[in-house]
Amino acid sequence: MAAFAAAACGESHQSALRQQAGWGEGVYAVNCARCHDSGRSAGELTTTRLVSSFVDAGSLQQFVLREMPYDRRGILNPTDAWAVTAWLLDRNRLLRLRPDYRLGPKTAKTVRLGGDLPRRGHVRP
Ligand code: HEC
Repeated sequence: MAAFAAAACGESHQSALRQQAGWGEGVYAVNCARCHDSGRSAGELTTTRLVSSFVDAGSLQQFVLREMPYDRRGILNPTDAWAVTAWLLDRNRLLRLRPDYRLGPKTAKTVRLGGDLPRRGHVRP
């Protein structure tokens, strides 16, 4: 999707949100795909999984920042965790935010997902 947008309108005309999601796609490829691509051990991060586990984009980012990658927790910085969160939500059509905004501490609460409770550490062994 990000690649398509880049091809369609050129890097310099991309919105802030598109740039952030594009960066997040790269973060995902490097740090997440080996476990979360379809057919991999941890399973795909589908819309159903995201909306049932997380209240809003902020709780998803917190979870990713603290708990992922599962085998190398703590390697992501907050900026990369926001970017990969933006990309995951965008891919699942859950990123409802003005295109000139970025996903971050101030905007994330407005991106509601509808999960029950902030998910905290429940995958910790
Ligand atoms: C070494 C394998 C591995 C890597 C790498 C990894 N994960 Fe995970 N991830 C897991 C496992 C295992 C779970 C727990 C699955 C469960 O509880 O159903 C999980 C769960 C999650 C969940 C919660 C899903 C849910 O259903 O609630 C999210 C979101 C997530 N990972 C995002 C990421 C992101 C983003 C990255 C990259 C920054 C990443 N993961 C990298 C193994 C991995």
